[in-house]
Amino acid sequence: MDSITLRRPDDWHLHLRDGAMLAGIAPESARHFGRAIIMPNLVPPVVTGAQAQAYRDRITAALPADSGFTPLMTLYLTEESDPADIIAAHQSGLVTAVKLYPAGATTNSTSGVRDFDKVRPVLEAMAEHGIPLCVHGEVVDSDVDIFDREAVFIDRVLDPIRRRTPGLRVIMEHITTRQGVDYARAGGDDLGATITTHHLVINRNAILVGGIKPHYYCLPVAKREEHRLALRAAATSGDASFFLGTDSAPHTDPLKENACGCAGCFTATNTMSILAEVFEQENALDRLEAFASLNGPAFYRLPANETRVTLTKGDPVSYPAKIDTGDGPVTVFDPMMPLHWRVG
Ligand code: NCD
Ligand code: ZN
Repeated sequence: MDSITLRRPDDWHLHLRDGAMLAGIAPESARHFGRAIIMPNLVPPVVTGAQAQAYRDRITAALPADSGFTPLMTLYLTEESDPADIIAAHQSGLVTAVKLYPAGATTNSTSGVRDFDKVRPVLEAMAEHGIPLCVHGEVVDSDVDIFDREAVFIDRVLDPIRRRTPGLRVIMEHITTRQGVDYARAGGDDLGATITTHHLVINRNAILVGGIKPHYYCLPVAKREEHRLALRAAATSGDASFFLGTDSAPHTDPLKENACGCAGCFTATNTMSILAEVFEQENALDRLEAFASLNGPAFYRLPANETRVTLTKGDPVSYPAKIDTGDGPVTVFDPMMPLHWRVG
């Protein structure tokens, strides 16, 4: 197969940032994707409908003319979030989902949730109104090893929340473990999971072998090889529970190449080429459309995109090593393998 045509893909987990960074990186996603779920972890976070409206306007202003790209907004859940504001923002069409960060789990998550009982009324209201909850699924307890934080979160937090909130639609975001795959697969129609591009490519050796490699450090951190293989099997299975959320998360090089480097891999630029390579390696190119273009909209109860993109195979494609933004350079994720599939 030398070319494949897909419905235009969507990105169900994306960081677009703000200001000069937003202006510099938004075109990278708009070039390839029809829609994206936009993460609300700005400083300060996007908590209210009014803040989401203002942020969406800034994103729209940063997009190239006629990009055809639609940002799907999320609200950042805090212990003080107002259920009435969330419901109104969802019913007006402004907000697609709500994001739960355990406080301290990742970049800009200090306003997240410490006591999950405090958000119970909000979650019950969301279940009643069909508002999806996007979950960063890691515990933050200092006695839990960072490589175990996702599996422990499923047992201690996610499963209890789902049991006591029937009907709550949950997306396990950027799963990185076999346990995440197994839980999502068994979870029924109200549970979905996104998988990033980079977690299909790297395991934890990429970060730590032969010197410390900050551009492969993200959260949740990449795990052992057995987990990467479970993620690849899930993504390429066609199972409707699994869909693409790149978690493309730009930080400038000085913030990554630092004694306390920021977490995040920036994959917006080359994601579709990488995914085609991965799916070809797994003899599953015919399932790429399900993962990147069909399963996500089906979970979010939105139509798939009507327009199409064609990927063609040829000599290795090169992408820029960095994207220059007004805030500084951002290194593009290096998949450490030649990429033969180009978009268009
Ligand atoms: C994200 C960021 O930089 O905002 N970082 C990351 O490593 N993925 C936050 C997140 O999604 O956890
Ligand atoms: Zn993220």
